[in-house]
Order: sequence, then structure tokens, then C-alpha cells
Amino acid sequence: MDSAAGIVATMVDSSAPLLRAARQEPGPRVPVWFMRQAGRSLPEYRAVRGEGTILKAISDPDRATEITLQPVRRYGVDAAILFSDIVTPVWASGFGIDITPGIGPVCEHPFTGESDLKRLRPIDIDTDLDFQTETVRNLVNELGDVPLIGFAGAPFTLASYLVEGRPSKNYAKVKSLMTGNPKLWHELCDRLADMAIATLTAQVDAGASAIQLFDSWAGALRPEHYREYVLPHSTKVLAAMEPFGVPRIHFGVATGELLPQMADAGAEVLGVDWRTPLAAARERTGGRVALQGNLDPALLLAPWEVVEAEVRRVLDDNGGHPGHIFNLGHGVFPEVNPETLERVVELVHREGRAVASE
Ligand code: CP3
Repeated sequence: MDSAAGIVATMVDSSAPLLRAARQEPGPRVPVWFMRQAGRSLPEYRAVRGEGTILKAISDPDRATEITLQPVRRYGVDAAILFSDIVTPVWASGFGIDITPGIGPVCEHPFTGESDLKRLRPIDIDTDLDFQTETVRNLVNELGDVPLIGFAGAPFTLASYLVEGRPSKNYAKVKSLMTGNPKLWHELCDRLADMAIATLTAQVDAGASAIQLFDSWAGALRPEHYREYVLPHSTKVLAAMEPFGVPRIHFGVATGELLPQMADAGAEVLGVDWRTPLAAARERTGGRVALQGNLDPALLLAPWEVVEAEVRRVLDDNGGHPGHIFNLGHGVFPEVNPETLERVVELVHREGRAVASE
């Protein structure tokens, strides 16, 4: 692991605005990128995506490389995010999961008991995820000074799909499993943590400059349950990535009540959604972490005057703190006009420069 971390360190351009902000160091501008920046709102994405499951496009290195680069070219964002999905490793290991267009991840046979653990074998990077390594290598060659963010799904959010069998509103099955059979729950999460570590390690080894752990649905839990059933597993993933020296971003939706605990999990950066003002998030986390966020993605559909005021409000909320990566509070909706995102990037770069040089 030490030698891998050494090699990676030489590949990272540590003065990139994203990496500086992650270290809470002043930089030339406020960096900005968007969750789901590659995707259906871009006509050039729809032109190359192809039919059927998105996993086909993800596992084709040429297509995945092109799709990852599209928003970087169009918007001039400060980071690329690998075009993949949180369920890719579970799918590649043969668990039996697919992504149904318009619905999301669906398992034909959800995880219901002990015997399903057998279906979750460890991932073999060279045979299961060779396409991912090739895509990351291609991207690092193409991106130059723009950092590539690698990512994985956190154990809780992945488990929610395996246990519920599809996107859920109330997480009843997963909450019932974690509280009713904690031993099995922890075994499941431990395997998912190992999978996340394997896939993140492969991405960083291939040249990713930062990683994001997506625990999108953790906000469904109350703090005591988060601490008992989720935190140890996310902590394990983030701790395993620490020796690589790349910034670690930890994100979830509706996590206002969980922010102090999420900050304990070990990442340098916490993603914050629009429900929690950045100033409040900074107070709740005691300045221990940089913050990423937090424009409400729904408001990107409002008139430009509203979007502009919201962007300024987010920057004001942050109050010129160097540890800020501008982003949305969640992913870009497919209906968003790409021109709006282009203007947001321009505005953040212009306004953020003024803040940075104050
Ligand atoms: O641009 C990027 O952000 C990189 C690509 C990316 C995708 N999924 C591609 C994708 C990333 C980072 C993800 C992560 C992901 N996948 C998360 C965490 C982020 C979040 O949104 O909370 C989650 C929860 C998933 C699971 C998942 N995959 C869902 C809920 C869906 C949406 C279903 C739908 O059709 O609305 C997907 C499908 C998916 N993954 C799409 C994309 C671009 C859209 C479907 C398509 O083009 O067919």
C-alpha cells in the first residue's frame, strides 16, 4: 500500500483548486463541479449513451471516457467524476442487480438472509473491473490538470438497494434487518465496505486524484442508529483510503442531524445538501472538514435571476472560507438546461475569485 500511495502522490497536481479547497487552503478561485454532471441533461450524452442498461455504457471504456469528459469540456468544471455507478462493483461481482431506466437499481432476488451472503463474493479488480481501470487510465491521460474524482457507494446506501430490491421511500426492510439481525447486517456491510475499498483503491492506483464516498440515503436514519449501524463501516472504508493521501469526500442527502458524526468518519470534505446552510454545517462540524455544496438542484429550473441569487447566497453563507467546493446539494436533474450550469460555473468562478482575493 505504501508504494502505491507514493506513486499516486506524484500524479496528483496538488495546486488544483479542488485539491486546495479540500485541504482548506486558499486558492485562485472557488472550485465547482456538479454531482451527475455527466448525464441526461446533455445532448452529447444522449447521443453516445446507447440503449438499455446504463451499465453497458459504464463497462465500455471508450464510451465511459467520452461521457466523463463531456461536462468538463462544456462547463469548464474543476473536476471530472468517473462515469460509473455505485452499484457497478456489486453488478460486476454477479450479485444480480441492474439499473432499470427511469427507476434505478433493481435486484431480481433481494438480500433477505444469511444464505445471500454467498452471493456477495469479494471483487476481483483484474477480471471484474478491468474496464474501470482502463477508463480511469484513459481519463487521467486526457484530463491534464483537471482532477478526476473516483467514487464508491457507502455500505449503508448500497445495502439499501440490495435489501429493498429497488429504490425505497421509507427503508422499512433495511431498518428491520439492521435492528432485527444486527450480526447479519454488520456482515453484509463489512463485505460491502471491502468492495468499496477494493474499487476505490483500484481507481486511485490508476490515477484518480480524489475520492467520494456516496452515502446518499444515510439521512433516513436517526443519529443513534447511524452511529451504531453505519458509521463503523464508512469509517473502515475511509480509513483504508487514508494512506493514499488523496482528499476523501463523504456525501449524503438530508444529513443535517448526522453531520458531526459523519465528520467523525474521517473524510477531509463533507457534502452538505440545501437543507443545511453552509455556516451551520461548519459550526456543527467545528471546522474539522471542508464543505461541498449546496445549491438546491430543483432551483436550477427556476428563472436565471433566482439561480443567480441562490449561487450568491451559497457563496455568502460560506463567507469566504477557503474550505469550500461549490456543488449542488444533490445531482443534476435531467430537465436542466446545460446553459444554466455553464452560467453557474462562470458565476462561481467570477464571484469566488473576488472572495478568494479579499
Ligand atoms: O456524473 C456523475 O455524477 C457520474 C456518474 C454517476 C452515476 N451514478 C451515473 C448514472 C454517479 C456518481 C452515480 C452515483 C449513484 N448512483 C448514486 C449516488 C449519487 C446520488 O444520486 O445520490 C446513487 C444513489 C446511484 C443509484 C442510481 N443509479 C439511481 C438512483 C439512478 C437513477 C435512476 C433514473 O433513471 O433516474 C441510477 C442511474 C444512473 N446512474 C444514471 C446515471 C447518469 C441515469 C440513468 C441513465 O442514463 O440511464
